[in-house]
Amino acid sequence: MKNRILPLIAGCAIMASCTTPQESPMDAYITDLMSHMTIQEKIGQLNQQVAGDIMTGSEQDTEITDLLKRGEIGSVLNVKGVERVKAIQKIAVEESRLGIPLIVGMDVIHGYETVFPIPLGLAATWDIDGIEESARIAAKEASANGVAWTFSPMVDICVDPRWGRQAEGAGEDPYLGSKVAEAMVKGYQGENYENDYNIMACIKHFALYGAAEAGRDYNTVDMSRLRMYNQYFDPYKAAVEAGAGSVMTSFNIVDGLPATSNKWLVTDVLRKQWGFEGFVVTDYASIDEMEKHGISDKQHNAALALKAGTDMDMVSRSFVETLEKSLKEGLVTTSDIDLACRRVLEAKYKLGLFNDPYKYCNIDKAQNSTYLPEYRETARKLTQESFVLLKNDNNILPLKKQGTIALIGPMAESKGDIVGTWCVASDPTKYKSVREGLETALAGKAKVLTAQGCNFVDDEYVQKATRSVVPFIDKEKGKREAIEIARKSDVIICAMGEDAWMSGEGASRADIEMPAPQRELLAELKKLNKPMVLLNFAGRATAIKWESENIPAIMNVWFGSECADALADVLFGDAVPQGKLTISMPQCVGQVPLYYNHLNTGRPLAEGTERYANFTSNYIDVRNDALYPFGYGLSYTTFEYSDITLSANTMTVDGTIKAKVTVKNTGDYDGVEIVQLYIRDPQASVSRPVKELKDFKRVDLKKGEQKDVEFTITPDKLKFYNYDLEYVLEPGAFDLMIGANSSDKALKKTTFEVK
Ligand code: BGC
Repeated sequence: MKNRILPLIAGCAIMASCTTPQESPMDAYITDLMSHMTIQEKIGQLNQQVAGDIMTGSEQDTEITDLLKRGEIGSVLNVKGVERVKAIQKIAVEESRLGIPLIVGMDVIHGYETVFPIPLGLAATWDIDGIEESARIAAKEASANGVAWTFSPMVDICVDPRWGRQAEGAGEDPYLGSKVAEAMVKGYQGENYENDYNIMACIKHFALYGAAEAGRDYNTVDMSRLRMYNQYFDPYKAAVEAGAGSVMTSFNIVDGLPATSNKWLVTDVLRKQWGFEGFVVTDYASIDEMEKHGISDKQHNAALALKAGTDMDMVSRSFVETLEKSLKEGLVTTSDIDLACRRVLEAKYKLGLFNDPYKYCNIDKAQNSTYLPEYRETARKLTQESFVLLKNDNNILPLKKQGTIALIGPMAESKGDIVGTWCVASDPTKYKSVREGLETALAGKAKVLTAQGCNFVDDEYVQKATRSVVPFIDKEKGKREAIEIARKSDVIICAMGEDAWMSGEGASRADIEMPAPQRELLAELKKLNKPMVLLNFAGRATAIKWESENIPAIMNVWFGSECADALADVLFGDAVPQGKLTISMPQCVGQVPLYYNHLNTGRPLAEGTERYANFTSNYIDVRNDALYPFGYGLSYTTFEYSDITLSANTMTVDGTIKAKVTVKNTGDYDGVEIVQLYIRDPQASVSRPVKELKDFKRVDLKKGEQKDVEFTITPDKLKFYNYDLEYVLEPGAFDLMIGANSSDKALKKTTFEVK
C-alpha cells in the first residue's frame, strides 16, 4: 500500500472520534499507524543515515534510495539544499510502503548561512534574549532549507580548554550554561511547531562529554555522582525543562558504561527524574564504538543501547542490522522496539510531518529566507557584543579612522576560517574577510596594508589537517612582508590565534598557547614600538601570558559570518566592547583544569597570592589564579560599584531577600556592564564551591549615568545536591558577592543567614 499517510491524515477526525478517553489524537494516530507496520519498518524508523557530505566517523555514505523505499530509514542528516532534502523526502513519502516521512536533521550549531559567533562566543555576550534570537534566526533559515531538527544546543560544561569542543558550549558555569541552554531550545522550537519555521532541538551530548580526561576528544570520563549533579547536569536538565524534543547521547563512558547504553543515565536520570518525553539519538556511530570500549559485539551492543532507552541509531546501522535477530533470540522485546519507534513517530507527528511531509521543503521560501539583511544585522550586533576586551593599555582602542593601518596575521584574509568551527551550511563566498571589513569601514579615510606574515602553526601537515584554507607560506618571506608593511603604518592590528578547525570536534590541543610562528612574529613586530592590537581568534580559553605581558591591547574574538564588520565597528569605536569570559583563561596549560567555582582544599592559597607558599595548595612555578578570570571583560568606559545593601540580613528557608548595588558609568563612553552575583555556602554537609554564579544582569549605562541593580535571592539559589543526591537548602550563613567578574578583587561582599 503506497502513500497511506495522506489517507490517514484525511481520516484524522474519524480517528480522533475513535479515540478512547485516555488516548490523545496523537497516540491514537500512532497506534493505528504502528498496527500496520512490520517489525522491519519499525526498526527502520530507528535508523538514521548520512545523506550529505559531512561525516565525522568511519561510516561511509550509502546508496540510500533502496533503503528509503524499503522503509529502512527514519531520518537523514546533514543534507544541504532544499531541493536535495525534498528529493529524499519524496522517495520516503511516495515510494515506501507506508510513506512515513523522514525527520531531516543537521548540525546547525551557531547559525545556518547567517553564522553567529561560536557558542562559546555567543555565551560571552551574556545576552540571553540575543542568544534566543540567534537560535530563532538559525531555525528560520534551516527550516526554509529543509531542516526539521538541529543537533543543538551543545550544553556540555567544560573546564579543560585542551578539549576543542569547548568552542561548542557555553563554558564552565552551570548557571549561565542553563540559561543559554534554555534560550537556545526556546529559540529553535518556539512555543510549538505549528508554523513552518520552528524546528526540533537536540540537547547534546548526554552526558559529561566536556569532562573528557586530559581534554583529549572522545576520552574517558569518570566523576562522582555528586559532581555530576552539582556541576555538570544543570544545563541538560534546564534544556529538558525548556521542552527540547530530543537528546543525543555522548561518545564517552559514564560510570564505566558508554553513555549510549547507560540505562541509569538515559532512563533513570533523563526520563524518570527529569521527565524527558522526547526521543534519544546516539552520537554518530557510538553503538559501533561500544565494541572498542570493550563492551560486546555489534548485536549485543545494539540491544544494550535500545534497552537503556536510546531510540535512534545515528549512522552505525547497528539497529537495522541486528535488532530483528535480537528479537528472535530474546535479547530485546517487541515492546522495546515499539517504545522507541513510537517516540520517533511522536516527534514526526508533533513537527506536523504527517500533515505535510514537505512542510520544510518550500523551494521559493528557501531563496527568500536565507542570509537576509535583517538576520545579518542581528548577527553583527551579537558578534560585537561577544568580543571580550582583555587589555587596553593607554586606551589604544578605539582606533581613529585615519592614517595607515597594518593588518597582519593568518586570519587577516581568510574567508574560509572566519565563521569558525562546525558550520555545515555556511557559504564562505558570501562573507567578508577581516581585511574587507576594515577596508569597508575605512574607505576614503584610512589605508589598510595587509600581510599574512606567518602560518597558523609550524607544521604544514597540521595546518592542512585542521582544514584551514590559508596557504602555508615561507617563514622568512612572510616575516619580511609583515615587517615591511608594519614599518609604513601608524598602528598594527594582528589577526591571529586559532583557525576555524583548531577548535571543535577532534581538535584537542595539548599546548594552548599562541602557536610558535605567530608568537615569533608578534615578538618581531613589537620591536617596532608602534601601537599594537592583538585580535585573538579563539575557539577555547587559550593561554596567552606572553601576549598579555607584551602586547598593549588584546581582544578575544570568536568568529562568525559578520565578524569582519563587527570587528571594524568595535575597533573604531562605533560599538563598545561588552563581552565577558565564560571560561577561565589560564596562565599556562599546567593549571588546567581551571575553573572559578572550584572547591576549597584544606590548605588553600588566598586568591591573588603571587608568591609560592610551601605546604599550601599551589605550584612552585606558576600562580593559582587565572590570567583572565571567568566573568572578566573590559569596556572602553569604566564602571564603579557601590557596596551591597540587603533588604534583610536573614531569610527563612522558603523566603527571599533582595540584594542591591549601584553601578555607575565613570568613563567617557556609553556602555553595557554585566553585573554578576555569586554565592557561597561556607559550611555545609558536603564541601561547596568557593563561589557560584547565581544571577546576572546586563545593564545599559550612558556616560556618567548610574543605576540600582537589584537581585532577589530565592531558596533555589542556595540549594545543592547533598551526599544522598537530595536537592536541599541547609540553613546557616551564606556569603554573597556582586561585581564585575569572579575574581575576589572585583567583588563587593556581604553575608546573610538562612534560618
Ligand atoms: C558529533 C555531534 C554531531 C554529529 C552529527 C558527531 O561526530 O559529536 O555533535 O551532532 O556528529 O554530525
